[in-house]
Amino acid sequence: MKFTYYGHACFKVEIGGKHILFDPFISGNELAADKVNIDEIQADYILLSHGHQDHVLDLESIAKRCDATVVAAYEVALWANGKGIEKYQPMNHGGKWKFDWGTVKATNAVHSSVLPDGSYGGNPMGFVIESEEGNFYYAGDTALTMDMKLIPMTCAKLDFAIMPIGDCFTMGVEDALMAAEFVQCPKVIGVHYDTFGFIKIDHEQAKKQFEDRSMELILMEIGESRDM
Ligand code: NI
Ligand code: MN
Repeated sequence: MKFTYYGHACFKVEIGGKHILFDPFISGNELAADKVNIDEIQADYILLSHGHQDHVLDLESIAKRCDATVVAAYEVALWANGKGIEKYQPMNHGGKWKFDWGTVKATNAVHSSVLPDGSYGGNPMGFVIESEEGNFYYAGDTALTMDMKLIPMTCAKLDFAIMPIGDCFTMGVEDALMAAEFVQCPKVIGVHYDTFGFIKIDHEQAKKQFEDRSMELILMEIGESRDM
């Protein structure tokens, strides 16, 4: 599965020829300005973990240009539909939906969710994706929570996990280490760090903290792709 990082908590996976984009926030990210051309991003599906601006800012432009299907909490999906995005799949915590490229399960996240215009954003969530090309967990914006222990009990074995590590608004590195243990996945791609002053981290120290527990923290360059 090809994985591309677009900065902050925005990334794309390609599964079975489908482009699946998560939490599009690019035009508002200074760190991504000279590294990502937003008009070239392909998306057949756009998954949104919650309604905050730093996860939905570029939804409308990309979804409309690509005629993408939005997958999100019921309230966020209806909000997107109200913006003129015609194709959407509403979900809520604990629910699964099968697409032709894989199955999405909406997992609990401990955070908040309101849309940029003040509309109610429903429950913030993470996703477990199971597909023929691999399985992964995207935690979304969340605190460390015991609910993560349910994931290995209820889902297929994970090949990798994407977790916020920037602290302040979400888990920091220390808690992400424990989250990786809870979901039984030693390979973690870090997101939601460095974008704003509140969430700057020391990359080398963060990676070493994972190494010290025999786990791997991958911090990708913005715009970088790799096979996962
Ligand atoms: Ni948030
Ligand atoms: Mn966020």
